[in-house]
Amino acid sequence: MVSKGKFYLTTAIAYTSGKPHIGNNYEIVLGDAIARYKRADGYDVHFLTGSDEHGQKIEQRAIEDGCASPREFVDKTSAEIKRLWDLMGTSYDRFIRTTDADHERQIQKIFKKMYDKGDIYKGSYEGLYCTECEAFYTESQLADGKCPVCGGEVHSMKEEAYFFKMSKYADRLIEHINTHPEFIQPVARKNEMMNNFLLPGLQDLCVSRTSFKWGIPVDFDPDHVVYVWLDALSNYITGVEYDADGNCGELYKKYWPADLHLVGKDIMRFHTIYWPIFLMSLDIPLPRQIFGHPWLLQGGEKMSKSKGNVIYADDLADVFGVDAVRYFVLHEMPYDNDGVITWELMSERYNTDLANTLGNLVSRTVAMTNKYFGGIVEDAGESAPVDKELKDLAAGAYEQVEKKMDELRVAEALTEIFQIFKRSNKYIDETEPWILAKDEASKGRLKTVLYNLTEAISIGAGLLYPFMPESAEAVARAIGTPLRTFDTLTTFGLYPNGNKVQEGSVMLFARKDLKEVLERAAEITKKQKADYEEAKKKAEENLRAHGMLK
Ligand code: MSP
Repeated sequence: MVSKGKFYLTTAIAYTSGKPHIGNNYEIVLGDAIARYKRADGYDVHFLTGSDEHGQKIEQRAIEDGCASPREFVDKTSAEIKRLWDLMGTSYDRFIRTTDADHERQIQKIFKKMYDKGDIYKGSYEGLYCTECEAFYTESQLADGKCPVCGGEVHSMKEEAYFFKMSKYADRLIEHINTHPEFIQPVARKNEMMNNFLLPGLQDLCVSRTSFKWGIPVDFDPDHVVYVWLDALSNYITGVEYDADGNCGELYKKYWPADLHLVGKDIMRFHTIYWPIFLMSLDIPLPRQIFGHPWLLQGGEKMSKSKGNVIYADDLADVFGVDAVRYFVLHEMPYDNDGVITWELMSERYNTDLANTLGNLVSRTVAMTNKYFGGIVEDAGESAPVDKELKDLAAGAYEQVEKKMDELRVAEALTEIFQIFKRSNKYIDETEPWILAKDEASKGRLKTVLYNLTEAISIGAGLLYPFMPESAEAVARAIGTPLRTFDTLTTFGLYPNGNKVQEGSVMLFARKDLKEVLERAAEITKKQKADYEEAKKKAEENLRAHGMLK
């Protein structure tokens, strides 16, 4: 396949404050589906993800957890994040940790470079700070006196600090956003950023802290640690061998600027305002696109441990399997609005889309091929008008999926793929192979019908691979072929004539009983609540031991 060029994509790096939930995991699965899709489509992909490990919040959680040091705590939580990313089959090229030595060294150099340039200066800060989000707010930005993002308490804080001159670059950024409509997507997010932050005018940003220790020290003023967002955002360049002294590695030369930063809607401000401005200060080209995806909510509510409504990827995967979880989160997330997950919805989708539509189609097709022709798939050339719609749909699917993926409408891309499977099931109803089988004179037609079904499945599996890699491979195995490559998807009729499908029955997705699933979910929730109470008690004891709680 001819290379279509490079494609560098990143996800947000997750906080190492605890175990990430299915909402966090959604972003990684989304990133992985895009990375796999682009690779299959002929791009030279570099995919970066990782963990965000510094800051006051994490320092505090380490104490609450009873760890001897923040480092011990982040080693533990980062490993847990990586375990979940790996469990979901994430094909990243690097899992960066902001405590990695190469990253830390570069952050110090980046800070110094901005300081030497005059973009960072020393002053003192007084403002309202949300520890949960590690962000300062002005009075007018608060929502009912609380943090506008997480709804938590803010407290006033004064300290000597370094500041970044944001306003210096504001006009350039506004100009860039206006002349690059693809830069912030979806477009609603762009309007939000412009109207709420850029147009009212940017204040200088506090980029160092002295009130806690767990961060990367400013090397020329070690009482200060670098603001966690300057540290974290820079992972996108340090992760590909950027060097502030100009000795950048091959990865940077090849892959920067990033083609896509994939992040949640809540952190768009950091990615579309701070980050491009930091890059301008460093004289580095800006990323091509920042995409702010919506949130996945548990039954319409934010997930929170205290509410006991958190759903984790590993619990879901235990019950439904990894690919079913991937399917659910990718398919259920609308492009713009928040999506909803519950155990009920997951079961429903699993049974209708995976067990019925896809699973049944493959098992019926393979079973009939085995029963009527000893497993041999052969086009006898006996076509009928009814074939055309199926053939056109299957051969045209790639083009539809490609359009959707170009706009990152991933849920809709999956829907397009499932159209092939749905249309194939309808084709079975229309052609009634079991009736054809009764009449020797219809054997030729029956062969063609089964060939068409197998070929449609083969195209569907090829397209499905980036989204559900293991299942796509299982489908290809069931019909006895290697997975189709993307450059073969638009021609109907490439399934090798005379090839054999898998012997015996195929069961890709066994149906789930809703009652059993809900019983299991209740057990998981019960344990989660008990664990939360225990951790809360332990946290209070540990904080008290450190004199941080009376
Ligand atoms: N550490 C920062 C990101 C720094 S990137 C330079 C952070 N971490 S996070 O762990 O809180 O969130 C990681 C990602 O998960 C973010 O993109 C965030 O928007 C996303 N999500 C958090 N909750 C989510 C849902 N409920 N649903 C979907 N995505 C969610 O922010």
